[in-house]
Amino acid sequence: MKILILNGPNLNLLGRREPTIYGNLTFDEFFESLKKKYADITLDYFQSNIEGELIDKLHEVGFNYHGIILNAGAYTHTSVAIGDAVKGIETPVVEVHISNVHAREDFRHISYIAPNAKGVIAGFGLQSYELALESFL
Ligand code: DQA
Repeated sequence: MKILILNGPNLNLLGRREPTIYGNLTFDEFFESLKKKYADITLDYFQSNIEGELIDKLHEVGFNYHGIILNAGAYTHTSVAIGDAVKGIETPVVEVHISNVHAREDFRHISYIAPNAKGVIAGFGLQSYELALESFL
């Protein structure tokens, strides 16, 4: 089973960025522990701050991976193009958020990804990614 975790803008700053919202762990630390725990799964990780690179990655893996776990960061709330890419590929996408976006500002309540996602998981910290992974097993 091949699963991609795809992170969008500013998520490279995890561990340093607003730790009261996003926690103290870097994504690399978390990803290493996830790979150890799910050693029988091919787990890949890609992060970009650039909208087009996220779309290119969705196209690249979206016809041959079993699942994509996507935290598009702020692009979730703005990007028709990422929403269209999720709609256009075959691989199911689970939208994840570290924070509970519905308990935050109104603009974070909108998602261009959710209508075309297999499901949405938000508010469980980095565990949101693990819950999304479990949904593919
Ligand atoms: C986020 C929530 C988004 O609203 C925000 O722009 C992010 C992170 C989350 O994981 O909680 O960058 O996607």
